[in-house]
Amino acid sequence: MVASKYAKCDLMKSEFTQRANNLPAHGLGLSVDVYSPDLLELVRALRDAALEPGYLEVFKATTSALQWMRQQLPDIQLPYHGEGLWSTQPEFPCSGSGRQGVAEACAQLAALRSAWLNHECATKQMAGYAFGTYLPPLYTELSARKTAENLAYLQDQVNQDARARGIEPALVLLEMPPLTYFGCGTLPIPEFFHTVTQQASCGLVLDIGHLWTVYRYTGSWQRQRLGEFTAEFLDTFPMERVIEIHVAGLAELTIPHAPGSGANAQGLPYWIDAHGAPIPGVLFELLEQVLSHPGLTSLKGVALEVDTKPIALIVEEFGQFRKRFESRVLEKVHHEHLSALHPQRSPIGRAAEGGQLTPEDEAALQQQYRSYVHLATSRNAPAPLSDVSLLGGSLEDLSRYRDTYLPHELLHWGGDVQDMFPDTCRALTEGNVPLAGFVPFWFSRPRPEQDDYDFFLLKIDRFVEFARQTCPAAARIVVREADELRDAYRAANEPIGSAQVRP
Ligand SMILES: [Fe+2]
Repeated sequence: MVASKYAKCDLMKSEFTQRANNLPAHGLGLSVDVYSPDLLELVRALRDAALEPGYLEVFKATTSALQWMRQQLPDIQLPYHGEGLWSTQPEFPCSGSGRQGVAEACAQLAALRSAWLNHECATKQMAGYAFGTYLPPLYTELSARKTAENLAYLQDQVNQDARARGIEPALVLLEMPPLTYFGCGTLPIPEFFHTVTQQASCGLVLDIGHLWTVYRYTGSWQRQRLGEFTAEFLDTFPMERVIEIHVAGLAELTIPHAPGSGANAQGLPYWIDAHGAPIPGVLFELLEQVLSHPGLTSLKGVALEVDTKPIALIVEEFGQFRKRFESRVLEKVHHEHLSALHPQRSPIGRAAEGGQLTPEDEAALQQQYRSYVHLATSRNAPAPLSDVSLLGGSLEDLSRYRDTYLPHELLHWGGDVQDMFPDTCRALTEGNVPLAGFVPFWFSRPRPEQDDYDFFLLKIDRFVEFARQTCPAAARIVVREADELRDAYRAANEPIGSAQVRP
């Protein structure tokens, strides 16, 4: 049994190596959105500044918008940043995400002629509950094995679709997600990715800002300096699988009049992933350290992730980035592939687990994800299961997520409820129904039947339910406002497709 686990691990490694060797070098690029800021305007500004990027990693949009973008930019490599593929979740292959979502991703890969499909190792739908922004997976052995299984399914679908179209299949990349104040589980994050790559032939994306949030929100900052933490992290993380590195902004969540923002007593800021914000200098120091790691043998590109950032700031930061890192990155991405010569480090004492999850494992994982949702959303939840605990970090930081971030996400992010439903909100105020009640209402029950994920439309549906149940006087008003919103949303999106709000 142990021998077959190692055989599987070797097979995954050689499959990956073969695929990685065939990937063209991409160089220094940008990870962008078609609409925000306007991509062609951005490319013009970069060309005017003699800063043509080596590639543009394009975030999911409508397939027709991506086809059009491919025509407008015929000479630049356009890898793809997927969205809505919840490959960390047990139900993925049978869900709308795993079926229609994957089919749509395949069509978009073909439209862009992408060499890779990158996706966050994270989800916005968990155990029947929807979130507006990503939550990382449960960091456990079982969850890592399920993620690997789902990635194999995803890569297989991508391969089949490419074969049918007669094109080269894209390589699936999994991006280590940020922590938004907390992580959940018992397996250290680099070991989680090590377990995944032992059982799946995927590549990885290492996001430098996300790495900083792991240092910040697993309590590591209390024990180690950042450089020391990073050295240890990189020695366990499967660096030879890293195809791409991302660097993006970090910033504190700013909520007017919210208590508790600002740095903690030790002076560390409460930064979270923020693509529109300036890139702090500490991330470029970390990038230096990552680029120096001997395990980084498969790198193809380094991108600044710049969706929602002002064009002038993108041009300025990309210029500085090129000046400081161009020669080192180009040397890395063009060098001969050496991963066969650099043995992969295994966390000591850990054999490659293998095999498909049993139905009992699946049921246990489902249960753990329900427990994770309760931990993340409610103070009064039942006691969490043993595997479902904070991954280091503090209860105070978990409360920051539950009490500040989550209400902000549901009431203001991706559509401000008060702007969306002004008349209903007035009626609720007159009926003494506090708007804050919408948050516990949202998480009051799972809705596993909900297959389609569109946070704006979900918000409309749930707010109608909320207003009708809590304030009969608002019932007719909320239905009218919801109809108007859906009509306007459809009209705005039909000609050019749905503008996605990127996390
Ligand atoms: Fe990223």
